[in-house]
Amino acid sequence: MEDQAEKLREIMRRKKEPIAAPKAAPAKPVAKAAEKARIITVTSGKGGVGKTNLSVNMALAFARMGKKVIVMDADLGLANVNVMLNMIPKYNLYHVIKKQKTIREILVETEYGISIVAGASGFSQIANMGEEDRKDFISELETLTNADIIIIDTSAGVSSNVLDFIAAADDAVIITTPEPTAITDAYGIIKIIATEYDSFNMGLKLVVNRAKGAGQARNVADRMINIAGQFLNLKVDYLGFIYDDMAVQHAVLRQKPFMVVDPKCKASICIQHIVDRMDRNKPGETTGFGAMLKRLFKSSQEAGG
Ligand SMILES: Nc1ncnc2c1ncn2[C@@H]1O[C@H](COP(=O)(O)OP(=O)(O)OP(=O)(O)O)[C@@H](O)[C@H]1O
Ligand SMILES: [Mg+2]
Repeated sequence: MEDQAEKLREIMRRKKEPIAAPKAAPAKPVAKAAEKARIITVTSGKGGVGKTNLSVNMALAFARMGKKVIVMDADLGLANVNVMLNMIPKYNLYHVIKKQKTIREILVETEYGISIVAGASGFSQIANMGEEDRKDFISELETLTNADIIIIDTSAGVSSNVLDFIAAADDAVIITTPEPTAITDAYGIIKIIATEYDSFNMGLKLVVNRAKGAGQARNVADRMINIAGQFLNLKVDYLGFIYDDMAVQHAVLRQKPFMVVDPKCKASICIQHIVDRMDRNKPGETTGFGAMLKRLFKSSQEAGG
């Protein structure tokens, strides 16, 4: 089996060289920790179904297991993650895209033992970036690989950025509520993923949020998983559910993670189950940070002609 980092170096080499160059330039030892960081995206079809709560609280649960976790807010709209943590970082992804700061420079430690990369509406500009800019941004991302886990809280719905992240993530978590509109939209995003990517196992995982109980959640999940398998030929794993729990709303109002405010509440226990399950199921080799960079390179090549 080919080493992921070596593949990446090869891409870097090819991208760096002028077409006519006779010799390969010495490979830059990039993404050394490629195998290390596990990338988890959290996406939904419909907005407001619990992406940011899941991202932040899952990060906390992983941190409590001794992992170094970064939550990256890739939402195009409001800067969600920092609001949920009552933080106003001076810099955010906008400054990285504008090359005023590096990702490392905008990384902020929180009081909860996790770090965050604050989002910005300017993040949408990654879609319009030129090849060079995109390359720069990617090398910036590489500097985050000293983390064990990077959780990317994406915006709801589909954009090419969201798809890029999903395609390359080790685990692409789709979150829905039992509401018919949320289910329809979640199915919509799964369908787009299936159409875009010709791969049965994309590491898609389903979380049902705001459920009345395990039975209701299981029903919702079973239906979606069956439809995805039958009609889209796409494997979706059921990761678990989160109770509809007033403790979540209370914590949101206090701008603190519910895992901190009320570690014994029903929602916190559900998060713990979800994270335990994720920790038991380590990602495969076809996914990961190297794969993500590869995909991003591929799309930048395509965009660049
Ligand atoms: N398990 C839950 N129990 C009760 N309320 C919940 C639960 N999960 C989420 N909520 C409510 O839903 C709101 C939206 O959650 P959250 O901000 O995590 O969603 P989101 O998907 O990130 O939204 P957006 O698409 O706007 O980024 C929360 O502020 C909270 O009031
Ligand atoms: Mg959000």
